[in-house]
Amino acid sequence: MRYRNTFVVGALLAAGGVVIWQGGRASTVSANPGDLTVVATTAAASAALGPAGDAEYVGSSKCKKCHLAEHKTWEKTPHAKAMETLKPGGAKEAKEKAKLDPQKDYTKDATCVACHTVGFGKPGGYQMPADAEAAKKMEAMENVGCEMCHGPGSKYIVIHEDIMKSKRKYKDDELVAAGQNTKPDKAVCVTCHNEKSPSFDKSVAFDFDKMKAKGVHDVQPLKQRE
Ligand code: HEC
Ligand code: HEC
Ligand code: HEC
Ligand code: HEC
Repeated sequence: MRYRNTFVVGALLAAGGVVIWQGGRASTVSANPGDLTVVATTAAASAALGPAGDAEYVGSSKCKKCHLAEHKTWEKTPHAKAMETLKPGGAKEAKEKAKLDPQKDYTKDATCVACHTVGFGKPGGYQMPADAEAAKKMEAMENVGCEMCHGPGSKYIVIHEDIMKSKRKYKDDELVAAGQNTKPDKAVCVTCHNEKSPSFDKSVAFDFDKMKAKGVHDVQPLKQRE
């Protein structure tokens, strides 16, 4: 993850999450969904947890009204169909190739769901639904949504609303401090694109530029950012 004025704290990174340090505050922006490790922070770091530390996932539909172009083009990427893949009959050939059972319902398998949904098991994120009604409510948290690359939205979405209404200028740092990853890079991608994915091809190195062209929405020039 690339953050301005930010240093990754190595010891905490080793504990399983990506921890960033901003002006004396450490915040866990993206724990590795691949191993579902709850980020173990040292006493010093948890005492210093900043406002971004307790941000919740809100779902991609909340971003749609203001970022229609990004949402529309995200919908065309495989990320937006990641839950379909886990259903019986979904991505049959890919499953056979990865030695998975094409008839099995993997939407109930926590291992799979961790990388194929938004914020699984984290505040506001996807939870395994108990019945059909709960499943309906969880639809907004299915698939690899905006927040899996940009960070949980509950804190920074308030700032975006203000920027929108006031038409004011803003700096990147303001959003980063609220837990946003404004420039998702390779480090974010490989929290899922790694050997814990049953279909991962170890023989091919993750080519960020190539994968970005295929897996990321179209981008618009930003007008209000300083
Ligand atoms: C939260 C996990 C997660 C993150 C983070 C993530 N991906 Fe993915 N990605 C997936 C899943 C799951 C699929 C498979 C979707 C499907 O077809 O069901 C996928 C599929 C893709 C594909 C299409 C399959 C392929 O191998 O060509 C591309 C391209 C891609 N991702 C690029 C990226 C890039 C670039 C990033 C970082 C900017 C990224 N992904 C971040 C989970 C993730
Ligand atoms: C560590 C994160 C991760 C986990 C865990 C994971 N996936 Fe995925 N899945 C991905 C990514 C990333 C891709 C894109 C291709 C790749 O790099 O493997 C993907 C792609 C797939 C595909 C290929 C889709 C296509 O159309 O080509 C299938 C099928 C799939 N996953 C099923 C599963 C199942 C079933 C499980 C659980 C047994 C699972 N995945 C667990 C991250 C994950
Ligand atoms: C797979 C990772 C990934 C997902 C999922 C994703 N983004 Fe992005 N997003 C990126 C990357 C990478 C960039 C930076 C692109 C660049 O700098 O060239 C970016 C840039 C942006 C930007 C700034 C540039 C612009 O287009 O205005 C906005 C806004 C944005 N994303 C919104 C969204 C929204 C809304 C969603 C969900 C519908 C979303 N993103 C989903 C990776 C992702
Ligand atoms: C009320 C409208 C609104 C909502 C809702 C909203 N945004 Fe934004 N967002 C904005 C505005 C306005 C900007 C600044 C655009 C500009 O400078 O042209 C922005 C900027 C961004 C940027 C670029 C930041 C940078 O400086 O690089 C990203 C990424 C982004 N939004 C993602 C999201 C995501 C993800 C969500 C949902 C969790 C979301 N936004 C929800 C209005 C919104």
